[in-house]
Amino acid sequence: MADTIQRKRILTGDRPTGKLHLGHYIGSHRHRLALQDQYECFFLVADLHMLTTKPDKESILEIADNARAIVMDHLAIGIDPHKVTFYLQSAVHEIYELQLLLSSLITVERLQQLPTIKDMANAAGMEQIPYNLLGYPVLQSADILMPRAHLVPVGKDNESHVELSRQIARRFNNAYGVVFPEPEPYVVGGTLVGTDGQAKMSKSLNNAIFLSDDAKTVEKKVMGMYTDPNRIRADIPGTVEGNPVFIYHDVFNPNKAEVEDLKERYRAGKVGDVEVKEKLAKALNAFLDPMRERRARYEADRGFVDHLLVTGTDRARQEGQATLIEVKKAMGLTGVWNKIRRSDEKRSKDMAKAGE
Ligand code: TRP
Repeated sequence: MADTIQRKRILTGDRPTGKLHLGHYIGSHRHRLALQDQYECFFLVADLHMLTTKPDKESILEIADNARAIVMDHLAIGIDPHKVTFYLQSAVHEIYELQLLLSSLITVERLQQLPTIKDMANAAGMEQIPYNLLGYPVLQSADILMPRAHLVPVGKDNESHVELSRQIARRFNNAYGVVFPEPEPYVVGGTLVGTDGQAKMSKSLNNAIFLSDDAKTVEKKVMGMYTDPNRIRADIPGTVEGNPVFIYHDVFNPNKAEVEDLKERYRAGKVGDVEVKEKLAKALNAFLDPMRERRARYEADRGFVDHLLVTGTDRARQEGQATLIEVKKAMGLTGVWNKIRRSDEKRSKDMAKAGE
């Protein structure tokens, strides 16, 4: 029954720069889990977006494995492959085409005003902005509008890009006729500090715990975590607030009584870091265990992830083709081509007749 009702659509994605870690989970991916039952989901691996800051051959050579890792991480989290279409952006030619057709609806000035573009250039150590980086949000709009998505879960940093896609949708609909729903941003959030206490967990900062880390690795990373630097002995009262070990306890340890007890003893100088960390490692591993089980199950089916990406990419291309037909019809481009093609067909027929 449910399948006969056209469900609203979600589109979101990740650049394939590495496997997912706890920061991704807290900041974004846990929300995808909650949404997958209510929406038809399109999750893309945004490798064309990766090329805006990492166009070097080495990064490109890593895309396939990173794409696979990201899809597998989704499955491990509990994303249902029957509910989601996973696809590789660079294999969906229709996205490139749509991006170009949308690009007359937005000005260079509007794009230059977005702080995100400069931030990304700075973060990548670029002094000048490449054309594709300036167009990053236009490509993102093509991603969003291609399956005619209604809802776009993104972090706060990407909200302005979804706003831009709304503007593009609105302008297209006004100029040519209604083809696109106006996509709504669904801002998800929460950042997780790194194991070293830096504001954000990130692969490049080397302070990440990956969803695919095994129990031993998690233990090792936790035992090396940054805590209260002033607490050089276990009998010195420590600070709980802002202490990454306790931040993680609050997020990942469901045993609130244990966490409160540890905090109390920590503040009083009555517990060693080792005990606090051992309990955290245990809680984290208990949190990750169900993901490990799912991962093992999916990994037993060799090639499953590649198969998902292939069927998903086919599906996405079909969506893209259907949308492009509507877009070109609305714009009148189909009519332009038909005029030329039909007159040529007529010529062929006339010539055939003359030769009879
Ligand atoms: N810009 C997103 C990021 O920061 C990735 C992305 C590409 C995306 N296309 C998208 C997100 C479309 C949401 C919708 O990695």
